[in-house]
Amino acid sequence: PRSIWLSRHGESEFNLDGKIGGDADLSARGQMYARKLPDLVLESVGDSRPLTVWTSTLKRTISTARFLPPTYNQLQWKALDELDSGVCDCLTYAEIKEQFPEDFQARDDDKYNYRYRGGESYRDVVIRLEPIIMELERSENILIVTHQAVLRCIYAYFMQKSQTESPWMNVPLHTLIKLTPRAYGTQEERYDAKI
Ligand code: G3H
Repeated sequence: PRSIWLSRHGESEFNLDGKIGGDADLSARGQMYARKLPDLVLESVGDSRPLTVWTSTLKRTISTARFLPPTYNQLQWKALDELDSGVCDCLTYAEIKEQFPEDFQARDDDKYNYRYRGGESYRDVVIRLEPIIMELERSENILIVTHQAVLRCIYAYFMQKSQTESPWMNVPLHTLIKLTPRAYGTQEERYDAKI
């Protein structure tokens, strides 16, 4: 049966600072994950078939995928870039709460529909992912290396959750997720890089 592999980028410098968005490089731990990812993937694939790797256009996903075997084709999709946090890009949640208290509250009240000023909501991300999902449905052996909000939406889709539950899916750092759609539902395996 065909599977789909999902991973977030390794920890970034922004993750360390608690900042959202941006286009930061990987932290030292994030680099360790990038180096470990090829073995994690080989372990979960179980044979020598090459995967096709889809990343976003941001440095931290491309960098995370860079040690994968050269036999794996890599493709960058703008549609896989992180949820655009608009005027809140590069801020910490504490800074957002201080500078945009009403927005902070509005997002807390309805995280799925809340759209950052000049940016996106989870709902917007679900919509822009439609072409990606369609392409995924007719492809085989795809590994997606992307961002937390984006992965939550893709994960919710394949786990047959309601789209509105996307913001609460648990997609941790440094974990490879293998999803295998089956007649009775999607089978899930997680590989923790233990970094
Ligand atoms: O801004 C993007 C983050 O990866 C998602 O975090 O939606 O829980 O704030 P959040």
